[in-house]
Amino acid sequence: MVTPGLFITFEGSEGCGKSTQITYLRKYFEQINPLREVIAVREPGGTALGEKIRHLLQYENSHVSIVAQAELLLFAASRAQLVREVIRPALQRGAVVLCDRFLDSTTAYQGAARALNHDIVEVINTFATEGLLPDLTILLDLEVTLGRARVHQRSKKSAMIDRMEQESEAFYESVRKEYLNLASLQRKRWIVMDASLPPEQVAQNIIMKLQEKIECVK
Ligand code: TMP
Repeated sequence: MVTPGLFITFEGSEGCGKSTQITYLRKYFEQINPLREVIAVREPGGTALGEKIRHLLQYENSHVSIVAQAELLLFAASRAQLVREVIRPALQRGAVVLCDRFLDSTTAYQGAARALNHDIVEVINTFATEGLLPDLTILLDLEVTLGRARVHQRSKKSAMIDRMEQESEAFYESVRKEYLNLASLQRKRWIVMDASLPPEQVAQNIIMKLQEKIECVK
């Protein structure tokens, strides 16, 4: 019998610690079943095309102006490629797919914070994903000021501030509000985690919640 794949996405504002938590969860899955394939991908990115789009969206700000509509379509283009080239085939092989952002990022950032038409965002999301939805979405929720302070620390080290990180506090408040709204509307799919706790504690809390929600995570 073929094991069904498991598709888990991570969402949250900048500085919420998604990549650290994905590393923890990946190790956990590899430990509970060393024979099961586990892959981690990110959005935008995860394919050759997607990584080019990521660079364009994040660091080309000094040369290229990107209007909100074009931004939406670029994120969708990266996602369309990732779903068909990587995520669907991996799920068909029975893998666990851990994805750093997915369609809910578009709903929160382009739909709510950029105030693009909600119905259009939804249609484009569905077109890009062929209707594929995560089995579970983990929201790493963090006060906006705390997230921004973490990003500031990080960018001092790397000397790189990306285009989105220059947005206002109000922009990030809308993102956070929309995430919490989405989570409250679809409680079965979403888990909301307090991302202000120490990373190991957040990881433990996530695993406890997963064990409650998903039969194969024991
Ligand atoms: P991150 O993955 O390092 O957080 O950076 C990705 C940035 O792109 C982040 O600012 C959120 C933003 N983003 C959108 O605005 N819409 C999307 O659909 C996705 C996937 C990301």
